[in-house]
Amino acid sequence: MNELEALISDLHPEWGIVLGSGLGAVIESVEIVSEVAYSATDGLPVSRVTGHAGKFIFGRLGGVPVVIAQGRVHLYEGRTAGEVTAGVRFLAGLGVRRLVLTNAAGTLNPRFAPGTWMLLRDHLNLTGASPLVGGPHFIDMSETYSPRLREKFASVAARERIVLHEGVYAGVLGPQYETPAEVRMLQGFGADAVGMSTVLEAIQARALGLEVAGFSCLTNWAAGIGSAPLAHQEVLATGAQAAGDLARLLSRALPQAAIDQ
Ligand code: HPA
Repeated sequence: MNELEALISDLHPEWGIVLGSGLGAVIESVEIVSEVAYSATDGLPVSRVTGHAGKFIFGRLGGVPVVIAQGRVHLYEGRTAGEVTAGVRFLAGLGVRRLVLTNAAGTLNPRFAPGTWMLLRDHLNLTGASPLVGGPHFIDMSETYSPRLREKFASVAARERIVLHEGVYAGVLGPQYETPAEVRMLQGFGADAVGMSTVLEAIQARALGLEVAGFSCLTNWAAGIGSAPLAHQEVLATGAQAAGDLARLLSRALPQAAIDQ
């Protein structure tokens, strides 16, 4: 048995969590058992973007066994949809059945202030890519983000007095932020937040039969809504502040979400 197989048979993580830009502070709430660098696994791509360390963290969050993927790769780095979603296939291969995807996003909804969280109800995949290209894989996407998990997370957030909106995430290619005209278009499409990740991973996870939840950390007003120009540093700083709320929410909600299903 190799190190990874030994870890899995000891811990049995049913939950996978993918951490987005600047959300590494969630790790502070994890009782860590072991860490495995992406570079130590077979063929998992490693990101070079600030705020995206590439490793799996095995441990317990709220007492629940989890494996956390810290650092993802993005289409805008020149990666393919297959590379972007390799981590999701890897987690599913480890036996993960439920996946929490997190990201940093710009808010498009005037009622959703920066510094708060949004639970994904649905998404718009505007990347022009899909990890399922190449196979006749006509999967149903009508309930991509589990209604059961959404209900659970919303009720725990209310109890914990954590502001948790629910809305539609628009996934775009990037890496440039949007123009004000693009922001108006996305609002017209019914999107509440915009970011450069998550949608391909959600598609891959659903194709593998995983139960999926998505959280956007609303780090900034999308271009043209606020007055300040957007900066990656602002995204990281807001994410770091909001990460504590997510850690608290997950550590309260995971024990319950694992029980009643
Ligand atoms: N647009 C796209 N991606 C983002 C943003 C944004 O405003 N903020 C954080 N990620």
